Amino acid sequence: MLVCVPDVLSKAEVAEFRAVMDAAAWEDGRSTAGAQSAMVKKNQQLPPNSETTRQLGERIVKALAACPLFVSAAIPRHIFPPLFNRYTVGQHFGVHVDNAVRGDHLSGMRIRTDLSVTLFLSEPDEYDGGELIVEDYYGSHQVKLPAGHLVLYPASSLHTVTPVTRGARVASFFWLQSMIRDDHARSLIFDLDTAIQGLVARLDRNDADVVRLTGIYHNLIRYWAEV
Ligand code: NI
Repeated sequence: MLVCVPDVLSKAEVAEFRAVMDAAAWEDGRSTAGAQSAMVKKNQQLPPNSETTRQLGERIVKALAACPLFVSAAIPRHIFPPLFNRYTVGQHFGVHVDNAVRGDHLSGMRIRTDLSVTLFLSEPDEYDGGELIVEDYYGSHQVKLPAGHLVLYPASSLHTVTPVTRGARVASFFWLQSMIRDDHARSLIFDLDTAIQGLVARLDRNDADVVRLTGIYHNLIRYWAEV
């Protein structure tokens, strides 16, 4: 399941991020790649342990917590400290699957990567190419979102970033471990939550059937959750 979450960062926040990032030193993106993905990865990255990366990353994690759609779709347990990358003309990331487990040297955090996240920090008209392509059971999905919006997709899926042919594609990317490990189970819970929110908008939250459905929502989480 791919889920797009709009307006995680405001345009003013994106501009502030970009100003800080433009002034920072970038390094070869292969420093965080696994053996296979290092062979197909050609981009730049902010050093993962730099003060700039950490501070911007913390702001993103805070913004995510305030975003009901993100929380509903991801049901996050642990969010890996966000990283930042940039693809300039000719750069791309060939087909790969993200590493299953990620360790963070500074915090000692180690997570199973259930979901991958790309938070776009360039507007689509700033660059050509640079589409994120995610493959799932239903085929290939091409994603290019406005700055400040993000896409969540299963970290188990093959994905690629196509070559940039004009401008620069700047983004934050990170992974998370969900309380609900199984992608299908998580999708069911998300669909149920979305339907309940739709009913709540039309009916009283205390309507007997809304209450029953809300109970089922919580009981499915109770049944599946790892906390
Ligand atoms: Ni990847």
